Amino acid sequence: MIAVVVGTRPEIIKMAPVVLELESRGIDYTFVHTGQHYDYEMSKIFIEELGLPEPHFSFELKGSTPGEQIGEMIIHLDKISQERKPKVVAVQGDTNSMVAAAIAALKVGAEVAHVEAGLRSYDWRMPEEHNRRMIDHVSKYLFAPTEDAKRNLEEEMVYGEIYVTGNTVIDALDRYMGLAEERSKEVLEKVPFDEFGVVTFHRAENVDNPQTLKDFVRILERSPIPLVYPVHPRTRKRLLEFGLWDRVKRIPHLMITEPLGYLEFIGLLKNSKIVLSDSGGLQEEVTHPKIRKRIIVLRTSTERPEAIKSGFAYVVGTNPVVVLATLERALNEGAPLPEASPFGDGKAGKRIVDVLERVGS
Ligand code: UD1
Ligand code: UDP
Repeated sequence: MIAVVVGTRPEIIKMAPVVLELESRGIDYTFVHTGQHYDYEMSKIFIEELGLPEPHFSFELKGSTPGEQIGEMIIHLDKISQERKPKVVAVQGDTNSMVAAAIAALKVGAEVAHVEAGLRSYDWRMPEEHNRRMIDHVSKYLFAPTEDAKRNLEEEMVYGEIYVTGNTVIDALDRYMGLAEERSKEVLEKVPFDEFGVVTFHRAENVDNPQTLKDFVRILERSPIPLVYPVHPRTRKRLLEFGLWDRVKRIPHLMITEPLGYLEFIGLLKNSKIVLSDSGGLQEEVTHPKIRKRIIVLRTSTERPEAIKSGFAYVVGTNPVVVLATLERALNEGAPLPEASPFGDGKAGKRIVDVLERVGS
């Protein structure tokens, strides 16, 4: 038995190609949602839009700290594992849900398969860096999206087998871009600007720091291009807590939205001029041949150096002077962007399921 575990927005999106490939091959598997993300627009909307089956199991978490949540998730996952007895548990990326799933799997003697293995920011302020290192070192099957990621794993002498597969984010865009063009028309009609950038911001080390969040608001206020901004729930909470929300609402060249569905969001990306973000996944998505946008990464490090090397990403931090100067430069940059994404060819899901089918069924 194969188990596939998701818990947050990016995992649902990036595991979709794996789940749909398992479905199309008629392979028996158990699909679990940990409940880390629980709002409709952070979770269920993606199950629906991406045409995924309802998870066989999903939890409601009571704890609020990361430690409490990880503990609860392990207890729930342990119960399911006793019942379903998975041989291999597939996890994706670097969230708290995935650490919980990896620990729960090991403790019942299952093997861990890590989709998107080998990413390293070398930035120990990031909870995601702790998580991905822990998961990589207990995984039996490591699906590295790129050669760079494979090299990181080899340097750390991980225990498991490494496969270079590409990133499933590219498979998802290949699959859903056509539908997205149709489904994003409504949101695009609501955008009151001819040209716009897309902005997202949610990393804990950014938004939980009042000074960094204030710098972010200054960037929004002084942006030379109008911006569309779907606000992550964590960031909304902090903007309110630090008394910055009213300032953000008053910015005339800013369109604020709730978190958007995937189809609306990638439609928006495609029609934008530029992206400003501290997201991990966006650094990959902008490189897709049907999107091809420059991204100003509002962080001081990245675990996706391929985005910089290929010319898509400018990793600049959150100092408004530096960000705004880079934004001006990127908007006027004439150098063509590569045609192909450095993150894969859209067949990652198939390669991953080839292995899962062999070892898990
Ligand atoms: C988590 C991941 C991060 C990932 C992000 C994707 C970890 C350590 N972090 O960050 O790597 O990039 O998901 O978006 O796992 N909240 C809601 N509704 C929701 C979900 C969250 O209101 O549906 C609020 C809650 O106040 C919660 C806070 O956001 O306490 C933070 O949520 P959490 O899941 O802990 O972390 P994210 O910041 O979402
Ligand atoms: N995304 C979305 N709606 C939004 C913002 C992002 O569907 O309003 C998608 C985006 O296309 C990408 C994923 O969510 O696939 C990225 O999630 P996030 O930035 O929250 O997490 P990270 O990638 O940083 O872990």
